[in-house]
Amino acid sequence: MLIKKAARIASSEITDEKHWKQRRQFLKSFALVAGGVLSPSILLADEAEKLPAAMPHIKHTDYGKGLKTTAYKDIRAYNNFYEFGTRKEDPARYAQDFITRPWTIKVSGECEAAGEIGMEDILSQITQQERIYRFRCVEGWAMVVHWNGFSLSELLKRFKPTSKAKYVAFETLYDPKQMPGQKRRVLDWPYREGLRIDEAMHPLTMMVTGIYGRLLPNQNGAPLRLIIPWKYGFKSIKSIVSIQFTETQPVATWNQQVAKEYGFYANVNPQVDHPRWSQAYHRNIGEGIFSRKQKTEMFNGYADEVAHLYSGMDLKKYF
Ligand code: MTE
Repeated sequence: MLIKKAARIASSEITDEKHWKQRRQFLKSFALVAGGVLSPSILLADEAEKLPAAMPHIKHTDYGKGLKTTAYKDIRAYNNFYEFGTRKEDPARYAQDFITRPWTIKVSGECEAAGEIGMEDILSQITQQERIYRFRCVEGWAMVVHWNGFSLSELLKRFKPTSKAKYVAFETLYDPKQMPGQKRRVLDWPYREGLRIDEAMHPLTMMVTGIYGRLLPNQNGAPLRLIIPWKYGFKSIKSIVSIQFTETQPVATWNQQVAKEYGFYANVNPQVDHPRWSQAYHRNIGEGIFSRKQKTEMFNGYADEVAHLYSGMDLKKYF
């Protein structure tokens, strides 16, 4: 994501100067070796990253089988998670000590059984599946990932939404002590997102607890985040602590920040460009900035499953 006016967080403000200078030196020398082209996959090479624990019980599905998947190391090295900095390499560096246990999600609003659920209960009581989904960021990069988790509907149903629940609102943890990016007003914290209830209940909408058979790396949104494969990446909110059923359309961070550029629906749509760039093509992470661009498909290739949710809607207006 690009913010036109907001100040960037200097890396010197979120790490000690010695480490920051060493890192700059490393990146500089690498840039020279690689002729000025920084490959995201190499950005962790100067630091041993802790690998998350393997997930014990995963039900393998055929969903997405046959798609060429992105390397695990690339998915962990090039992220958007502004709570840990605005540059793509920041989350991998600054989220390493983020504490994700104990973790509780509060569910409230228009439902009969409002309450809380802990992360361990989510992992032990709900069967964790593996599905391969495409993921497309609004900035034009894309990846194909082995996601582990479950349909969000399985969690939502436990709290018995009422007929007044027309939308579902999500919030990320607000903890500036742990999330240095929140010390700056780059966004109106906490990060918030929302879905219409039928989108939230759609079986493709996934609550993700891991990738490639391991618990989620912190930089990818540990301990749990959304993936809505037919929508641009900014809808996939990370490190969720609150879910609320609402009667009216909730605030969504990027839509609130720059409504002309980021719609509430944010369905992947090659026919509706971002005001500052085309959405017709994308590049896959890990293949390099000189790789051939790929054609982006309507609803990111999931039209057969989700197009009916928007029948009769003007998708240029409701982008
Ligand atoms: N969630 C929170 N809390 N904070 C963020 O900055 N960035 C979003 C989304 N979820 C973001 C977030 C954006 S813009 C994208 S593209 C995806 O996370 C990136 O997910 P990834 O880093 O796992 O690829």
